[in-house]
Amino acid sequence: MIYKTLNNGVEIPMVGYGSYMMTDPGACRDVICGAIRDGYRLIDTAHMYDNHVPVGEGIREAISRGYAKREEIFLTTKVWFTDFETEACRKSIDKALLDLKMDYLDMVLLHWPYGNVYAAWRVLEEYYAAGKIRVIGVSNMEPDRLIDLIRFNDTKPALNQIETHLYCQQKKAKEWMNRYDVAHEAYRPLGKATMKEMFEEPVVKAIAEKYNKSVPQVLLRFLLQSDVIIIPKSSHEERVRENIDLFDFELTSDEMEKLAALDKDAPAVGLAETPEKTIEMIEE
Ligand SMILES: NC(=O)c1ccc[n+]([C@@H]2O[C@H](COP(=O)([O-])OP(=O)(O)OC[C@H]3O[C@@H](n4cnc5c(N)ncnc54)[C@H](OP(=O)(O)O)[C@@H]3O)[C@@H](O)[C@H]2O)c1
Repeated sequence: MIYKTLNNGVEIPMVGYGSYMMTDPGACRDVICGAIRDGYRLIDTAHMYDNHVPVGEGIREAISRGYAKREEIFLTTKVWFTDFETEACRKSIDKALLDLKMDYLDMVLLHWPYGNVYAAWRVLEEYYAAGKIRVIGVSNMEPDRLIDLIRFNDTKPALNQIETHLYCQQKKAKEWMNRYDVAHEAYRPLGKATMKEMFEEPVVKAIAEKYNKSVPQVLLRFLLQSDVIIIPKSSHEERVRENIDLFDFELTSDEMEKLAALDKDAPAVGLAETPEKTIEMIEE
C-alpha cells in the first residue's frame, strides 16, 4: 500500500474500498472483511449508504481474524446535508460511532455542500479537537466554496472527495486543492455512467495489453500516479482484488500524457451536472 500525508500530518492509504450500494448486510460484511484480508486499509462509507452496522461488523471480523489492526484501518464516513444543523450533526456523528461500534473515526466528510455547511463544519472541528475524529474534510466542493470554508474557519479541510475519472479529471479543481494543500480523493474512479465507453478506449486498452493488466487497473493506476486517492467499489471478490493489484507496474510519462489528453471534462454530479439534477436531490 502507498500512503499520502494529509495537511494535518495523518497518513491516508491511497487505495480504498468504496461501499456505496452495499446495502445487503451479509454481503457488505463479507466484502469489507475480504477487502481488508486482500490488503485494503481504507474503507469509505456514509450515513446515506445505510450500511454503518455491517461495515463495522466487517472491519471487526477482519481484525478478529488478524488481517489488520484497528489502527491500521482508515475508516471514513460522511454526514448528509439534512443533518448539518449543530445538534443534528452531533447526533449523526454519535450515531455513526455507535452503529459502526468504533471509539473514533479516521475521517468524517461533509457529503454535499448544501444546507448549514458552516454549522456542520464547526461540529466536525469540535469532534476533531476532542480526538473523536482524526481527519475532517469535505466532498463535492467546488473550489470557491472550499476556499471560503478555509478562509473563515480554524481548521482547514484535509481532503475533498469529488467525482474523478479518465473523462472527468478535475484538473482545475486539483490546481486549487494543491494550492491550499487539500488532498484529492476520487469517487467513481471507474466512471460508472461512462464506464462502458472508457473501457473501450483504444489507448487504455493498448496500455493494459502492454503491461498485461486489465483496463480498470490502468484507469485506477492513472489516478494514483496523478496523486489522487481512489476508492473503487465492487461487489465481486475478484474485482475487489483486481482493483488493488496496482503496484507491480508504472505508467511512463508519455502514457500519463496520453491518458491525460483523454479528459472530456465530462459532467460530474454536483460539480458540473445539470442544475436540475442537483436541485432534485436537495428538494427530496
Ligand atoms: N462523495 C460522494 O458524493 C460519492 C458519490 C458516489 C460514490 N462515492 C464513493 O465512491 C465509491 C466509488 O464510486 P462508485 O461506487 O460510484 O463507482 P466506481 O467505483 O467507479 O464503479 C463501481 C462500478 O464499477 C463496477 N466495477 C468495479 N470494479 C470493476 C472491475 N474491476 N471491472 C469491471 N467493473 C468493475 C462495479 O460493479 P460490481 O459491483 O458489480 O463489481 C460498480 O458497478 C463509492 O462506493 C462510494 O464509497 C462517493
